Amino acid sequence: MRTQIAIIGAGPAGLMLAHLLRQQNIDCVVLENRTREYVEGRVRAGVLEQTTVRVLDRLGLGERMHSEGLVHEGTNLAIDGEIFRIDMAALTGGATVMVYGQQEVMHDLFNAAEARGVKIIFEAKGVALHDVDSTRPYVTWQGGRLDCDYIAGCDGAHGASRGAIPSHVIQTFERVYPFGWLGILADVPPASHELIYANHARGFALASMRSAGRSRYYLQCALDERLEDWPDERFWDEVCLRLGEQTAAQVTRGPSFEKSIAPLRSFVCEPMRWGRLFLAGDAAHIVPPTGAKGLNLAVADVIVLAAAFAEFYHGGSTAGIDGYSAKALARVWKGERFSWWFTSLTHRFPDMDGFDRKMQVAELNYIRGSRAAQTTLAENYVGLPM
Ligand code: APR
Ligand code: PHB
Repeated sequence: MRTQIAIIGAGPAGLMLAHLLRQQNIDCVVLENRTREYVEGRVRAGVLEQTTVRVLDRLGLGERMHSEGLVHEGTNLAIDGEIFRIDMAALTGGATVMVYGQQEVMHDLFNAAEARGVKIIFEAKGVALHDVDSTRPYVTWQGGRLDCDYIAGCDGAHGASRGAIPSHVIQTFERVYPFGWLGILADVPPASHELIYANHARGFALASMRSAGRSRYYLQCALDERLEDWPDERFWDEVCLRLGEQTAAQVTRGPSFEKSIAPLRSFVCEPMRWGRLFLAGDAAHIVPPTGAKGLNLAVADVIVLAAAFAEFYHGGSTAGIDGYSAKALARVWKGERFSWWFTSLTHRFPDMDGFDRKMQVAELNYIRGSRAAQTTLAENYVGLPM
């Protein structure tokens, strides 16, 4: 089999890239090692930046998002239960975010794939990249071979692509946080019509949602926490405690249908290109979920990458291709900084002393009273310009 761009991984990065390439009449094949049901079923974040909303619109795939998604003009912070609002729209000249789960985004991308000529090979096991630094790279898997001009490594944090780059040409940067997030999904109305990020002496909590009838809540937890120690009642008690009385009064409890623990990590690999291989999304960088930048950074990468390939195939210039890594990384590092900062501001670190906690509270109070500080938060949250 031959194609122009071999895409490894059918997550948000890979599938969005495939749609963007098809829109430019560039041929591609996506190799995914799991099933569609698995990829679509994974519960991930659900806040889309302006740029992500716009790209779905540009692909003509935004219809369901606009009818079912929730537009949020603001977000909330809480200090030991005391809430204040960041009016993002007012601070940024009208920018908003869209609450629409990654699962829904994936559903829309998969549903449109066949009609748009996006070829996906599911359950491609043992994917391996070959001759990446030559002009004739190819990809193999159990039972197949795909020859291509370029390879897009969109296979996430544990994929095969990054490992195909010799270790002496890449540099990695990492921060592992000494805690995780325990998250639940429940079919109950959200406590508030906007998100609440809560800094509490007992640790961070987040009240989020997927729709008017589906809530998503998170609690900061120890890395060795066990799910069986968190029956729903204990979770609800703790989340109410950390969100504070005012919010707790609005929390509707109900049985959770999803409960999981995720570790928090910051990670970047530089450069994002080697020879004919281009990394995008989680394959190249991870952010902690605070601020919901992961999916949005993956989408920003593939917008830049798709434009670079279009410039090459339709304009005959390799300038975009050669500039991809630097351009993508400039945005990635800003997303890394924001996610790290927002995590540092809102979580309880095990080595924190009384002074450290006072510094967090002082910074939150400063944000509460400063339009400048709120603007900084808001413009990062809604997404920096491309
Ligand atoms: N071969 C083929 N496919 C693979 C391989 C492999 N060796 N390894 C992983 N994959 C697939 C995974 O099954 C997954 O569907 O690559 C896809 C990678 O998707 P994500 O991990 O979602 O990464 P990405 O597309 O970069 O999206 C980043 O989405 O899942 C969130 O937390 C993530 O918000 C971040 C964003
Ligand atoms: C979510 O709803 O899953 C979510 C929302 C905001 C975040 C992280 C996760 O910052």
